[in-house]
Amino acid sequence: MKKITAIILLFIASTFSSFAEEGMLIPSLISAFEDDMKAMGMKLSADDIYSVNHSSLKDAILHFGGGCTAELVSSQGLLLTNHHCGYSQIQSHSSLENDYLKYGFWAKNKSEEKKNPGLTAARVVRIQDVTASVFQGMEGLSQSEKLLKMQENVNALIKDAMAGNEYSADIKPFNYGNDFYMIVKETFRDVRLVGTPPNSIGKFGGDTDNWVWPRHTGDFSVFRVYANASNEPSDISDSNVPYKPLHFLPVSVKNRVPGEFTMVYGFPGSTEQHLTSENLRYIIDQERPARIKMRDKSLGVINAGMRSSDLIRIQYSSKQARIANGWKKWIGQIGGLKTVDAIQIKLDREKRFNDMAATKPEWQEAYGSVINELNKLVVKYKDADFGYSMAIEYLYVGPEVFKQARNLNKFLKNYEAMEIAGTLDAEIDKQIKGAKGFFKNYDAAVDKEIFLLLTEEYVKQVGNGPLPARLKNTSAQVLADKIFKKSILTDEARFIKFMNKLKAKSFKKLKKKDLGFIVWSESNDNFRENVLPDVRTYRGAKDQLLKTYVKGKMEMFPDDKHWPDANSTMRITYGKLEGSAPHDGMAYTEHTTIDGIIAKNNSDNPDFDVLPRMRELAKKKDYGDYAQDGELWVCFSGSNHTTGGNSGSPVIDAEGNLMGLNFDRTWESTMSDFMFDASRCRNIAVDVRYVLWVMDRYSGAKHLVDEMVLVK
Ligand code: ARG
Ligand code: GLU
Repeated sequence: MKKITAIILLFIASTFSSFAEEGMLIPSLISAFEDDMKAMGMKLSADDIYSVNHSSLKDAILHFGGGCTAELVSSQGLLLTNHHCGYSQIQSHSSLENDYLKYGFWAKNKSEEKKNPGLTAARVVRIQDVTASVFQGMEGLSQSEKLLKMQENVNALIKDAMAGNEYSADIKPFNYGNDFYMIVKETFRDVRLVGTPPNSIGKFGGDTDNWVWPRHTGDFSVFRVYANASNEPSDISDSNVPYKPLHFLPVSVKNRVPGEFTMVYGFPGSTEQHLTSENLRYIIDQERPARIKMRDKSLGVINAGMRSSDLIRIQYSSKQARIANGWKKWIGQIGGLKTVDAIQIKLDREKRFNDMAATKPEWQEAYGSVINELNKLVVKYKDADFGYSMAIEYLYVGPEVFKQARNLNKFLKNYEAMEIAGTLDAEIDKQIKGAKGFFKNYDAAVDKEIFLLLTEEYVKQVGNGPLPARLKNTSAQVLADKIFKKSILTDEARFIKFMNKLKAKSFKKLKKKDLGFIVWSESNDNFRENVLPDVRTYRGAKDQLLKTYVKGKMEMFPDDKHWPDANSTMRITYGKLEGSAPHDGMAYTEHTTIDGIIAKNNSDNPDFDVLPRMRELAKKKDYGDYAQDGELWVCFSGSNHTTGGNSGSPVIDAEGNLMGLNFDRTWESTMSDFMFDASRCRNIAVDVRYVLWVMDRYSGAKHLVDEMVLVK
């Protein structure tokens, strides 16, 4: 008897240890995982994490600017998020006289905190399963009537939820439309900048270290949420007061113990865990490599330009970071998926699914062919999907002359309307102002080279089709020479001259003669007319099949851990503070220290530049109360399943205290958007003790630390 129990326990333990960390769970359903979380060391109850009856952890976690996560850490609305999440606000307040990027910024009191028009932070009021209500009254309706009825149901639910309050409500499909949840939110519109470390801390390691462990980035910035006198969201106003949160996170300055429980609570953007083997094969073998190649080329040009001149370095630094972020992630993804042989894993899982379906006639009927159909669909629409991806890379990520063409086209489309309304002159002035902003960060020689290389590569990848027919025999070099010599899109003076003389006649001429505009508009037409419709059909059909596939997984394998793909809604993921050993013969420890900052700084790489103060404090070992065993931790890694959007998310300990701010994943684990591998997938966080140290010892902003509740 004992022996059998032991074997069962061992079995349970082994399934849990390999699956426990996967998944981005819906907070309102977290009670289903409470036992598992407690077995991993959590001391909280499901009710402490999410409740609609009293305040809970969820009330401290806000969706920041719609794309990142942030957490409240004081009774006065103090808010922490990543440096890279607050970057555009930080940049907008910086100037040559007040160079916050280079030296940081700390408001000495609330009156110095800086307002940020357009910036929001949203609290989730409640998450409600409305699947039954969305599907109500469908009996006997045709397919198109059903869709109308569904829309009607959705509208009614939203109207109801918003009646008599200031909240907003949204209904989103989960599991490809098997489930629907209503998210009710309270969105704060006055969010002020309180402080930021210099780039040499907040961006330490730059692109060299992006997606990489070991990491030493102090990726945090500090904001404060303001509300009106009734503690409700309000437009920016001097009469607003600091928001009093329903809950804020206490901050843990306790020693960390490898293996201890960690939970990440935030707003992950998107994952694709259910793609079938054929789809993954297409991504690994064709789609990602081609996109990477396009970016190899543009990055090659941009990097060389940035090395050659300080002006180009400043002009292109944020564009470069944006292009490189995806590029580097994809290289990591392909590497990881190949290393674990993800396609074979998918094939094995598909066989298991089909075998199970074959055990019951009704399963066979409902699910027996869905994988085959999905795989066939991928093959059928491969070219369309590929054309789409390449057009995105060429027309949207590629040469910026196309961005200028897109802007101009939007303007010209409304030409007549503006003429009639008498707003044309004012709009022309706006265009000129916009163009000045554009050309300020533009180097025509860099863009010409990008245009040349990407046009060649694009034609090589998708054929001549997308280019204007009459230019088929013109080489990319000749096109580039002409466009960058003559087009109004590639030169500020030409553009402004054109705008100042603009008449209906002149833009007809532009459409016929300006090669830059012609290449863009005909490639763009081709994209809209020949690529997009197929891609829409493909995605619709694929989502429909994925809906069946996911339903089959849930019905036939009720004991597997099921979780809906990320969709920018609030989720919880849990795991442990732990390192990894993603390569044979190499192990990553779970934390880094300030010593690593100094070691990296000893190289010549400007990504590792620091201000003198960092070396001074490190030399003195002036760690304040923030050290552990004589070391100042900077970053740590954990086995929490995260993705883009989780930036700024709190890493929370077993008792609900803040341990750190999530900001990245290790390179080897970026595959987790498609497949989570518990042995290699790790998120990266900045330790909140380093955050406190930077505020207190490095920056002299101890008053902010004093505002928080520290747990020793
Ligand atoms: N890789 C992180 C994310 O996906 C950080 C990006 C910002 N940092 C950078 N060096 N580009 O958002
Ligand atoms: N840096 C990402 C973000 O901005 C998080 C990293 C990831 O993709 O896991 O959301």
